Amino acid sequence: MADAKPFHWEFTPEPVTREVFRIEGGVPLTGEVPISGSKNAALKMFAAATLTGERCRFTNVPEIEDVRVMAETLRDLGVVVDHPEANTYEIASGDVEWLFVPLEAAAKMRASFILLGPLLARFGQVIISNPGGDRIGRRPVDLHVEAMRALGATIEYRNGYYFATAPGRLRGTEVRFPFVSVMGTENAMLAATLADGHTVIRPAAQEPEVDDLIVFLKEMGAEVERTWPDTIEVHGKRRLRGAEHRIIPDRIEAGTFAVAGAVTGGHVTLTGAPCDHLSAFVEILGRAGVDAECDTAAERIVVDGRALREGGYRACDIRTAPYPGLATDLQPPTCVLLTQASGTSQVHEAVFEDRLEWLSDLNRMGARIEIPDNHHATIRGRTPLHGADADIGDLRAGASLILAALAADGESTIHGAHHVKRGYENIERKFADLGARIARLEERFEEGTVSTPS
Ligand code: EPU
Repeated sequence: MADAKPFHWEFTPEPVTREVFRIEGGVPLTGEVPISGSKNAALKMFAAATLTGERCRFTNVPEIEDVRVMAETLRDLGVVVDHPEANTYEIASGDVEWLFVPLEAAAKMRASFILLGPLLARFGQVIISNPGGDRIGRRPVDLHVEAMRALGATIEYRNGYYFATAPGRLRGTEVRFPFVSVMGTENAMLAATLADGHTVIRPAAQEPEVDDLIVFLKEMGAEVERTWPDTIEVHGKRRLRGAEHRIIPDRIEAGTFAVAGAVTGGHVTLTGAPCDHLSAFVEILGRAGVDAECDTAAERIVVDGRALREGGYRACDIRTAPYPGLATDLQPPTCVLLTQASGTSQVHEAVFEDRLEWLSDLNRMGARIEIPDNHHATIRGRTPLHGADADIGDLRAGASLILAALAADGESTIHGAHHVKRGYENIERKFADLGARIARLEERFEEGTVSTPS
């Protein structure tokens, strides 16, 4: 039996090792960078593996903190999670003895809520922490909960936890979302694979990671189809089997490195890159005057930042949207690019409410950005960037502060490296291999300085 997990009133977050990125900017990045497996696909595959007692094997799994947290969360439930070699995981959920996903897991990673659907469908009950509570962010999970209720579950909310039960099997139904939700779609789909009868999910998210999950579920013997771009249909099965799957490449990591090539005026080749999943982003690169060539068959994107040295890029307006629109996760890197574009660019962040706050850090590095409200920003370029001290607030903003520091003149110290480790495999090594002067160092608060780990 796993150790007892704390309830909300007992919870204190684990201390993290404070690390900083120390970056000396101004070097044009040159060379090849391999793109890792997709974080947001891998996390859902691990959850899907709990739908069967048989062993599942995943390759091309990114070596990142969020994957490690998901693996730990599953082990705490009694699931066997093996990591036989780098980028490969094997999961066997025969004996799940502890149907409780604690606040510890939710506080570290909102995506732990993806365990609701599969655990409920297979075991008929689960207690799971609310990751949308005031303490750890303001992103709700109401759509997930309503989808489970539509599938016949009873869910009560007490003391920060959802107590979900479904005696017998969940029942196939129509799950209607008021708007598109990626994990909402995935949770409903995972639950429906073991439900009794036919489920229609609409509007279903169209992100490539959702389709990768469909491929894996079919390998497990599930009957799942995207029958229309915004519709997924599932015919529930009594049992699923173990399966093996290679995770798709991470389109957000690819977009981040593409911007690195562009804003440093370098020449970067992304290998193993998912060209087909980046159409909206590549179209924006083209409008901004960045030379980006995609070779879909070779899974290669070549970004030539020569135009930066020959007069700079062009301003353009961007708006984030669910796939196939511009990914909200690529909005922060794109904003860094637009600081190096001549003219005024309007940014509309239409998916999340808290994704523009970090732009004030970009202003401290020399950008000229106004943020009139939570969803809009105006970027006036082109502005030279200079090194600064900055604090990372979240994963994508953190990666984008690194991009800004790489493009800037002088030295930057970017605090809160652990946020970036959540979602980027070995980011400092990949940048260093392209010629960047970057190091990740342990932070010593008492000295107020940075030193190498002893
Ligand atoms: N929303 C609700 N209620 C819900 C669920 C979502 O109001 O129950 C709202 C959200 O607050 C947001 C909108 O719906 O305004 C869309 O959110 P969505 O549910 O699509 O996001 P998600 O599934 O929680 C995933 C990715 C995010 C990515 C978004 C959008 C994972 C683990 N996370 O989140 O990735 O930004 O889709 O594409 O798949 C990241 O990787 O850094 C990241 C945040």
